[in-house]
Amino acid sequence: MSARRISRWAGRTEAELRQRWGRPDVHLFGKVGSTNDQARLLAEEEAPAGTIVIGREQTGGRGRGGRVWHSPPNTGVYLSMIFRPAELESPGLLPVMAGLGVVRALDLAFSGLAPALKWPNDIYAGERKCGGILAEASWSKGAPRQVIVGVGINAKPLPPSVPAAVRTAATSLEDEIDAKVDLAEVADAIVNGLEAFLGESTSALDHGALDLLDHYDWLRDRRVSVLVHGAESATTGVAVGIAPDGALLFRPDRGALRRIENAVVVPEKASSRKASG
Ligand code: BTN
Repeated sequence: MSARRISRWAGRTEAELRQRWGRPDVHLFGKVGSTNDQARLLAEEEAPAGTIVIGREQTGGRGRGGRVWHSPPNTGVYLSMIFRPAELESPGLLPVMAGLGVVRALDLAFSGLAPALKWPNDIYAGERKCGGILAEASWSKGAPRQVIVGVGINAKPLPPSVPAAVRTAATSLEDEIDAKVDLAEVADAIVNGLEAFLGESTSALDHGALDLLDHYDWLRDRRVSVLVHGAESATTGVAVGIAPDGALLFRPDRGALRRIENAVVVPEKASSRKASG
């Protein structure tokens, strides 16, 4: 079943949003499986870089590792953007750069939110997750054909249709700043944030970006347990930062500093951040 287009989202038409963001194309959908899939279909039909897809609701919203991204109607922003980088030396950097851009833009737009990036792709406010990034690249003959970067942000409190365990672990912008939030302003922050860090190069984080990451790194100095993809058991230690290519820097309780590229990282206790310095 093909997804239905809608004429307005958050009270704005496609033409208004195109102009607001200076985009070649904005596609608004009502109920959509996943905006990433919809954007990929458009990219395969030669939609230009910068094209944006927004869903009012997703029935198959997904996150990293195939997890479900609960996407009830008019609660969050579910937005995907098409990028066409000439090269992609460090694919692992994509979610980190995208996340850094979005966190920075949210911080500038919503006073009192204090957002942070939990490596590699989660957006936190305080001790709970309020958003995530899913970057998916397609390749052709060793070169990137397109990258779809999807961002989901809980703008409003999650309704009871979302499982209680998810609601308890998550938060929303409105919960955090105790004020009404306009979905279009959240989308502004996403678009500006993605453009700021993915517009040019995606090969390495420069000094400015590394300084910002240091500031927004939710895991830094926390005790964590790291389960590397393919490993049998988790290792405990301290997350110490993020490398220029997007890898997590992890100091295990025994042994030397390690670079972690593909792993599930769980904080040992919510309040276990050590004083730094
Ligand atoms: C994660 O937490 O692992 C990432 C969540 C990403 C969710 C967004 S919502 C828009 C886009 N469409 C999807 O199906 N996923 C991303």
